[in-house]
Amino acid sequence: MSPKQLGSQQFQIAPSLLASDLSCLKEEVIALEKAGADVLHFDIMDGHFVPNITFGPTVLESVRKHTQLPFDAHLMISDADQYLDEFARVGCNWLSVHVEACPHIQRTLTRIRDLGMKAGVAINPGTSLFSLESVVKHCDFILVMSVNPGFGGQKFIAPMIDRVRELKKNLSGTNVKIQMDGGIKLENIAEVAGAGVDIAVVGTGLFSSKDYSSQISKLRSAAGNR
Ligand code: DX5
Ligand code: ZN
Repeated sequence: MSPKQLGSQQFQIAPSLLASDLSCLKEEVIALEKAGADVLHFDIMDGHFVPNITFGPTVLESVRKHTQLPFDAHLMISDADQYLDEFARVGCNWLSVHVEACPHIQRTLTRIRDLGMKAGVAINPGTSLFSLESVVKHCDFILVMSVNPGFGGQKFIAPMIDRVRELKKNLSGTNVKIQMDGGIKLENIAEVAGAGVDIAVVGTGLFSSKDYSSQISKLRSAAGNR
């Protein structure tokens, strides 16, 4: 497993396990690797920063040995700093924290990198891109939320496409990747990829199909086989 995969020039698909059958997570991660997923996205919610509770690092630990794919944990929690070491310990490779939830964001991102993980900053649809200005050099990727975080299966917020275009321009000359998360499906993934997204998180847009392999191929080809 190589967290370096974040540096890939190719468009990547990151299934969001929140939409999987959590009663058989082991089988799901094995099936996703076989089906050609690039990275596994885990949505960590605390019932405080977002109005929903999901799972924590012990769940990632329980499936870590069943796949070689990189693990990408999206922390939607109020006190991220308290849990960074634990996510590294269980074998997480990419870790994103919300700019809205981290009062000392440069310190948080530096700690994530020091722990050997790729550091990401997530930004809610209602937060200005200006809040990222001083953190770009401390991160490896920016997670543009295309829904308000908290639940899977929400409607894609279309103006976030323009946000990605603007961000892409601002990031030119850097190695910082753009990840987008929320409401991405076959119908809009071409626009998402065309705007400059490098990694698309897909939940219900993938798990609504029984055949992950064919759905991932369809998503990739709709994205233009980038
Ligand atoms: C929302 C999560 C997303 C979501 C994606 O808070 O961060 O990862 O589960 O699921 P879909 O693709 O169904 O919107
Ligand atoms: Zn997510």
